[in-house]
Parts: sequence; structure tokens; C-alpha cells
Amino acid sequence: MKVLVIGASGLVGGQCFRLFSAQPGFRVAGSYFSFPLAGLSCIDTLRAHALFRWADENFVPDLILQCGALTHVDYCESHPEESFQKTVVAHRHVLEFSRQCGAKVVLFSSDYVFDGRSGPYVETDPVNPLSVYGKHKRLTEEETLAHSSRHLVLRITNVYGREVRGKNFVARILDQIQKASHIHLRLPVDQYSTPVDAADVAAATLMLVRAGQAGLFHIAGTDFMNRVELALTVLRTLNYERYTLEALPTQALGQAAPRPLLGGLIAQAFKNLFPEFAFGTVRTFVEGWKKSE
Ligand SMILES: NC(=O)c1ccc[n+]([C@@H]2O[C@H](COP(=O)([O-])OP(=O)(O)OC[C@H]3O[C@@H](n4cnc5c(N)ncnc54)[C@H](OP(=O)(O)O)[C@@H]3O)[C@@H](O)[C@H]2O)c1
Repeated sequence: MKVLVIGASGLVGGQCFRLFSAQPGFRVAGSYFSFPLAGLSCIDTLRAHALFRWADENFVPDLILQCGALTHVDYCESHPEESFQKTVVAHRHVLEFSRQCGAKVVLFSSDYVFDGRSGPYVETDPVNPLSVYGKHKRLTEEETLAHSSRHLVLRITNVYGREVRGKNFVARILDQIQKASHIHLRLPVDQYSTPVDAADVAAATLMLVRAGQAGLFHIAGTDFMNRVELALTVLRTLNYERYTLEALPTQALGQAAPRPLLGGLIAQAFKNLFPEFAFGTVRTFVEGWKKSE
């Protein structure tokens, strides 16, 4: 199978690139946009030609993992047109490219397509995005599912894990613990989610692809916690005590984009197919990180 991972310099794409590359019989290429990494090609999905030129110079993929996106939720809120271009229009180019290649697309979406009144959510729950980011993610979901009955849309949320830049929430806390003599955290106490390890996202993606699945799936860990609880889980797993923590309501943080407060996802359809798959927890991830340091 020939696979193109768009956004392989990012968290999810990086883990997918690593796992898919290790599969016998898979030929895998990955792309970056602004953060060059050895072995990856530069692709800007906003420029449709870039995709076709890449295929001319490399190979025609059978599978495209679309992990490339503008992921800064508050930036999207204050730059809606740019968000539309970089999320919706750029993804249309990927869909058009996939049509010409005959490739299956896996799109990563988010629990921000829900309003956060009653999470965690299963796949059949009605969507109602609150933010620009959430609305644009929903549009890409709809267009992907309408484009081909072979494509997959995988909703994920609050992803943590190992990545080159260590920019995810858990990785940033781990980084601060290593570098600072004391850390101070200001976190929302009312934003609930279901954190998931990027390595589990990659593993679940591979299983769905291998099984020839299509349609909409939630990929989520079994932890259901707010940001304060998530940070405390990291700190307590490491017995780290040199911190102060302000637990605040979301309102007090002045975030530009509205959040789905009671968010999170339940991997119902995935677990029905693969009941034996055990998602990791934040605690087990941090314990593993501690052993490897
Ligand atoms: N992480 C989460 O908690 C989370 C939650 C819900 C949904 N998601 C979704 O999952 C997907 C992957 O997220 P992530 O956390 O891995 O994000 P990430 O770490 O920020 O990575 C995003 C990737 O997209 C690339 N990219 C940005 N603009 C691009 C463009 N115009 N053309 C091609 N590539 C472009 C980036 O390249 P450079 O870095 O090289 O610029 C990077 O490789 C996104 O669709 C995101 O919305 C993530």
C-alpha cells in the first residue's frame, strides 16, 4: 500500500507516519508545511498544484492520511476567512487529489463539532459546533463523507504524546517540570474531555484502514477529565510538588473561541469492532515517559 501522511511534522501525523512506515509492504511518505523535518516533503495543501506535483515526483498514493490543518482554535476564531481557506478549501484540494489518484482519505476531526452540553459523545449524537474551528471541521467532515463512501472521518480530542516539538498540553507540562524549579498553571476547571495518546490514534487508524472500514468513528481514551484534573494526573504520577495551580472557570480565561465545555468522545463504533483494543491512560503514558527519561 502506498501512503501519504499530510502533516507528518505534527503530533498525530508524526505518530501515524512512524507506525505506518513500520508496516511490511507499506510505502509511506510524509509532509511538513512550515517545520521541516528530515525525510519529509514540503506540501502546502492550500496550493492544489503542490499535491499533484508531489505525486509526479514521488508516487500516486492509495491512502492519504490528512493530518494537515490549522489547529489553533482561538486564532481561527479571530481569523475566520483564513480558517476557512486553511481548513475547508485546503481539504477540498486533498479530496480532489484523492479522486484523481483513486485514494482513500482519512480525515482527522474534533469533538469541537459538538456544543459541549452533554459530552462525552458517541458518533450518532447530533452536532452543533460553537466555534469557527468547529464549524469548519464539521464542513470538512460532511464534504469528506459525501465525496466517497470509502473515506474515513476520525474524531479525536485532547491528544497527548511524544512529538518533536513537544507542544501538546501533557508534553508541555512534562517539559516545564524538567526545566523549571517551580511551575505555575492557570487552567480551566470546567472544560472536560477524553484525552487520548497519539500513538493509540495511530494504532486505531491502522486497524480501521486494514479492516477496510469507512465512515465516521470516534477515537478516544477512557479518561474523562477536565484540564485541572489532567494536569494533576501528570503532576501526581510524577510525585511532583513544586507547582501552584489556579483552577478557573473558562470565562475568566478570555479565550477567543467558545469551548464545548462538557466535551469528549466515546469510541463506541471502534470498540464494537475491536473490543480487545485497550486505550492507554494519561497515567500509564506519564509512567512510561518517566521510565524512559
Ligand atoms: N491535537 C489534538 O488535540 C486534536 C484534537 C482534535 C482534532 N485534531 C485534529 O487532528 C489533526 C492533526 O492535529 P495535530 O494535533 O497533529 O496538529 P499539529 O501537531 O498542529 O500538526 C498539524 C500539521 O499540519 C501541517 N500543516 C499546517 N498547515 C498546512 C498546510 N496548509 N498544508 C499542509 N500541511 C499543513 C503542519 O505542518 P508544520 O507543523 O510543518 O507547519 C503539521 O504537520 C488536525 O486536523 C486537528 O484539527 C487534533
